[in-house]
Amino acid sequence: MRYELSPSILAADFACLGEQISQVEQAGVNWLHIDVMDGNFVPSISLGMPVITSIRKKSSMFFDVHLMVQDPERYIEDFKKAGADMLTVHAEACPHLDRTLHCIREAGMKAGVALNPATPLVMIEQVLELVDMVLLMTVNPGFGGQKYIPYSGDKIRRLRKMLDERGLSADIEVDGGISTKTIDQVLEAGANILVAGSAVFGGDIAANANVLMIKIEEFRKHQ
Ligand code: DX5
Ligand code: ZN
Repeated sequence: MRYELSPSILAADFACLGEQISQVEQAGVNWLHIDVMDGNFVPSISLGMPVITSIRKKSSMFFDVHLMVQDPERYIEDFKKAGADMLTVHAEACPHLDRTLHCIREAGMKAGVALNPATPLVMIEQVLELVDMVLLMTVNPGFGGQKYIPYSGDKIRRLRKMLDERGLSADIEVDGGISTKTIDQVLEAGANILVAGSAVFGGDIAANANVLMIKIEEFRKHQ
């Protein structure tokens, strides 16, 4: 299985965003997690297409765009134009999830589906064949720097089992409170794409990214 660290720019210093993204890219990180919040599905508002368009010109990383947006199908083409490689939508925010996921793929992007901590896996059972990735929120979405919710481990395990039983190779991304303290337990549970915001952008960015990548590599080697 492949493993990726996906640093969340929500925790970056937006006054020097381009420079901070270069630091993670130069540290050897392949993915970049971009949190879009609409002030409706989640309480806060973060960033949108103009920021993605600007950073697209500076980076060749895989843009993993997490839409915490109500009815995100309205913006699929816009995010494609801005430079997203993958769009992940919340099952809770999509009344016509099947159609939305098809539209994302038809627009030429990878498709992901996300679940809040309190939303059961049964919500996405029908659409697992349609997604490249399932994002399991390990905090309540809307803010960076929150504490990892411990019952997430069991949910990750059950999802990996469900995917394996159906012969599916979708990635499992975990998002929220991932740090050197929690990364081992989510890897062991079956997650393979690890989002980290404050654990990467808080302090020495390259050093933080390296510590997490080493932990991922150690785990991968013992698989
Ligand atoms: C939260 C966002 C996360 C957030 C993670 O709603 O989806 O991606 O940036 O931040 P940390 O890693 O600091 O918990
Ligand atoms: Zn996110």
